[in-house]
Amino acid sequence: MEHFRRPRRLRATPQIRNLVAETHLHREQFILPMFVREGLDRPAPIAAMPGVVQHSTASAVEEVRSLLDHGVTSVLLFGVTDHKDEDGSYACRADFVLQRTIQELKETFGDTVFVISDLCLDEYTTHGHCGVLDERGRVDNDRTLIRYQVLAQSLAQAGVDMVAPSGMMDHQVAAIREALDDSDAIDCGILAYSAKYGSALYGPFREAVDVEIANGGDRRAYQQDYRNQREALLEVELDLTEGADMVMVKPASFYLDVLSKVRSVCPVPLAAYQVSGEYSMIVAAAAAGYIDRQQTIQESLTAIVRAGADCVLTYFAKEAAAWL
Ligand code: PBG
Repeated sequence: MEHFRRPRRLRATPQIRNLVAETHLHREQFILPMFVREGLDRPAPIAAMPGVVQHSTASAVEEVRSLLDHGVTSVLLFGVTDHKDEDGSYACRADFVLQRTIQELKETFGDTVFVISDLCLDEYTTHGHCGVLDERGRVDNDRTLIRYQVLAQSLAQAGVDMVAPSGMMDHQVAAIREALDDSDAIDCGILAYSAKYGSALYGPFREAVDVEIANGGDRRAYQQDYRNQREALLEVELDLTEGADMVMVKPASFYLDVLSKVRSVCPVPLAAYQVSGEYSMIVAAAAAGYIDRQQTIQESLTAIVRAGADCVLTYFAKEAAAWL
């Protein structure tokens, strides 16, 4: 490698660095996760996620207007309610805040906004698990799939562009695809949370959606063990055969190896979710003066895209878009 021993003659000006940079962020690759809550007349702050709020339908519409002005065109919606029951049935009502917000957004902005809805039950169940429970208190995979199918049809009816099943039940993508096709919602896509790890980084999110898992429980029975990488590739493969239009790796920053591996085997678009804990760590450290907020956000998002993500779900979407 004779070449590398010669003295360097190029000066690394910003122009040269920009000329050869391998990774570029753009606004359209961000998806903003948003929380919509029943019964609010103004946005409610989320203490564990400074700067993020629970929206009413009206304030969500205004936020999306501002988001579109910033050049960000996609959102992921979560519903929040006090009406919880054993099987999360309240969330399937046509007049639930999630469905009403989807409808308002599509009526107001049409296809200028791409609306994805999270599809899970933990936000709506009394026990806080992502599915319905059997007599022994364990998540019942197959009965849960039926609830997911009903919810998917209800969200599609409201006009959602894509649903994102995040509960990690076996065969959830196939079950939802079948239900959507049966109800003529053939143009509603599926973003599969394929590689979703059981992570401490979801901590702040629990407050955002008012979820507490009963009896100090956790999701290790259905989320992935963070000691493992190969399982992620298998989950992606399964979701693809079941009809996923896009797949996701979640969380993002601690799982860049998984992202990179998935990228190399996955023919469909790949999303990464920079989750609540990743958000709050950066916000808190920047507020304490330990790190620079803007530079850290930019570096984190760039790393996620460099590792292979085509798009990034991030609570920083609007802030980051403003600098690009
Ligand atoms: C499950 C769900 C979770 C998140 C998105 N969907 C929480 C969990 O699985 O425990 C976390 C998102 C975040 O932390 O930002 N419905």
